[in-house]
Amino acid sequence: MPRPKSVYVCDACAAQSLKWQGQCDACGAWNSLIESRPMPALRALSAAPAAAVRRLADVEEREEARRSTGIGELDRVLGGGLVAGSATLIGGDPGIGKSTLLLQAAARMSEGSPTLYVTGEESLRQVSLRAQRLGVAAGDLRLLAQTCVEEVLAEAGRLHPGALVIDSVQTMYSAALQSAPGSVAQLRETTAQLVRFAKLAGTAVFLVGHVTKEGVIAGPRVLEHMVDTVLYFESDSGSRLRIVRAVKNRFGAANEIGVFAMAGDGLKEVPNPSAMFLSRHAKPVSGSAVMVAREGTRPLLVEVQALVDESQLANPRRIAIGLDANRLTLLLAVLHRHAGVSLSGRDVFLNVVGGVRIAETAADLPALLACVSSLQDRPLLEHTVAFGELGLAGEIRPVPFGEERLRESAKHGFRRAIVPAANGRRRLVRALAMLDLEVIGAARLPDAIDRAFA
Ligand code: TYD
Ligand code: MG
Repeated sequence: MPRPKSVYVCDACAAQSLKWQGQCDACGAWNSLIESRPMPALRALSAAPAAAVRRLADVEEREEARRSTGIGELDRVLGGGLVAGSATLIGGDPGIGKSTLLLQAAARMSEGSPTLYVTGEESLRQVSLRAQRLGVAAGDLRLLAQTCVEEVLAEAGRLHPGALVIDSVQTMYSAALQSAPGSVAQLRETTAQLVRFAKLAGTAVFLVGHVTKEGVIAGPRVLEHMVDTVLYFESDSGSRLRIVRAVKNRFGAANEIGVFAMAGDGLKEVPNPSAMFLSRHAKPVSGSAVMVAREGTRPLLVEVQALVDESQLANPRRIAIGLDANRLTLLLAVLHRHAGVSLSGRDVFLNVVGGVRIAETAADLPALLACVSSLQDRPLLEHTVAFGELGLAGEIRPVPFGEERLRESAKHGFRRAIVPAANGRRRLVRALAMLDLEVIGAARLPDAIDRAFA
């Protein structure tokens, strides 16, 4: 078969050129030309067959049939199970457990329908050794060590698997392109072919993707656009906890998380993770505050720790792990301006225990309480939780799902909750008092600080 001729497309302006050159003639960008296949690659992106225009009301609604992966927490992040014909990208640092999780899931899924696990990184022997450690070696899982995507698809076409796992997409190459596996052009092409296969054959395809040092899936963002669901592994170094987060999901809630613990025999589900992210202190310590976050569709009790220390630097450090560092700078300005607490000349370190990342603004208030507590070396009152968003005017703004967060705190034995005034409505306060939870609504930052300490 003659090799289709490549064209080179500028990543910045999409101009095409017949040969590679260092600078794009059209827009002048450097190193922006990438090899691409002329038409098929483009057509591959629109996987649905050409169809006539129809009225929205006439399109028959059909609940996406979902299948369990056999792992409850994985089903949860996928939005309630696996959708036939979906393409899912799973990213994460090396060694975090991507292959482990997918091998476990693939083994479970192979009990229902044929499942094909394609390994481009490890030999069949390595995979089989791992399967033995995981205790899933006896199943009906099919393995294939292959890195040519056309060969993989030919094999998959014969087997008609219900699920296909590609570990990893960076090792795959298409024979139609000359560039090396892992290059942008190859990633685009192989992913396009795999996604098209998923749609046409109704196979659920999982793609493992490596992440770069910056923490995004290596290769272009285009991969994230091409697939239906993007999952990321998060973890603290040294921690056994692994959090899988849906960053994008066409079939479910984004930001849903699944929690696992790495054990000697693979990843174990943590179906009730609500209090996994608290460290147990015998008595209250300064610099620690407990917040109720809501990640995905469930509340989560999380400890935020702060360390405020004299700085030796002209520009004191502001470091936040698990929270947004820019947000921290903003919060410290609010703390100074509206509560009169200055942290100038001091380093501020903030850490969320357990390696979970909190993107919610509900973390604002507990983060500042932890900072004040560390600065003044005063612990917060015992059994206290807090949540709330801070405005630039020093007001504490309500956050969604206040009641659910409060009930979760009560369930875990907390006695006081410092919350936005608008979240502490009277009826709710009375109801929670029955559960031994005192709800303290604070309208402004200084009120909250007053009430948080003895
Ligand atoms: P792996 O799944 O190979 O990670 P990735 O595919 O994301 O690079 O990583 C597994 C890591 O977890 C490895 O460092 C060893 C450890 N591990 C366990 O602790 N228990 C196990 O049962 C297995 C299979 C691996
Ligand atoms: Mg791996």
